[in-house]
Amino acid sequence: MRSDFGTTSKGEKAALYTLKNSNGMEAAVSDYGAVLVKVLVPDREGKLRDVVLGYDDVSGYEAGTLYFGETVGRVANRIGGGSFELNGRTYGLTQNDGSNTLHGGRDYYGKRMWTAEEADDSHVTFMLRSTDGDQGFPGASDIRVTYTLTQENEVKIHYHAVPEADTLLNLTNHSYFNLSGHASGLALDQEVMINADAYTEADAQSIPTGNVIPVEGTPMDFRKAKTVGQEIESDYEALIFGQGYDHNWVLNGSGYRQAASMYSKKTGIEMKVYTDLPGMQFYTGNFIVEEAGKEGAVYKKRQAVCFESQYFPDAVHKERFAGPVVRAGEVYDTTTVYQFGRR
Ligand code: GLA
Repeated sequence: MRSDFGTTSKGEKAALYTLKNSNGMEAAVSDYGAVLVKVLVPDREGKLRDVVLGYDDVSGYEAGTLYFGETVGRVANRIGGGSFELNGRTYGLTQNDGSNTLHGGRDYYGKRMWTAEEADDSHVTFMLRSTDGDQGFPGASDIRVTYTLTQENEVKIHYHAVPEADTLLNLTNHSYFNLSGHASGLALDQEVMINADAYTEADAQSIPTGNVIPVEGTPMDFRKAKTVGQEIESDYEALIFGQGYDHNWVLNGSGYRQAASMYSKKTGIEMKVYTDLPGMQFYTGNFIVEEAGKEGAVYKKRQAVCFESQYFPDAVHKERFAGPVVRAGEVYDTTTVYQFGRR
């Protein structure tokens, strides 16, 4: 179902697409920013809970600085120093996080109108034409993001692009999850598991040093589920630098596999995260101050957490990190799934 989602300050009309499945789940996405606006999941009692933070209409998304539900790119997370070299040429990007580039730079994809190419009750494909030189990156490309709500209660996000020249591509979704409901307060009591034996060490500006640190014996160890809050205040350098969790975990295994899970004891809602990418940023909403959100909610620090599948941050400057260079004519094709259930 397509409905009106308001008008941007430039006069563009945004639409909201509501997807449904036969288990009572609903997801809503907008062509503005290809954002995931709502995810309604039945709780233990069968009551629908909206488990993602967001805004009521497009003007909230236009003004927002926290990336709620947005599709970010061309390169998610940070590129140190705001420039990189490819094929012997240096490309300068916009620096929107100190001297670094975050989530594509100032004019990132979450703040643009995408075109809905096709839509039905279970899926929508959004397309964005990114030209050569867009944000400073070479290689024009049509970028497609398809959201599907499956009968298996998955919100499936599929990314596809074939750049016309060598470039970088690393798209992610920046949804903030709170499985007790978006307006239910802090997410610190919810349990998280991350399928990773290591994380990438980063400096005080969150730029990886290149070192890969085993999680064993550290507060970064989420291999066995524990609450988000259990060790978040530990006297551990990474947590001090990040003001909480805001790091890239080196996911175990390769190919499409489970990356993480989350669970709310209060509602019984459970979520499993799957991806085919090598890394995942687990971010605990440390930079939310007081943000006016959907239905009058006011979101606070650590009210929700993000599971951003990705190539490792600053991989373009680290020989040992895979990606995110995609050659001319090569297919960039990746899938991340958030699957819901209850127990
Ligand atoms: C990512 C980054 C964080 C922060 C959020 C958005 O998770 O790693 O440092 O920028 O996005 O606020």
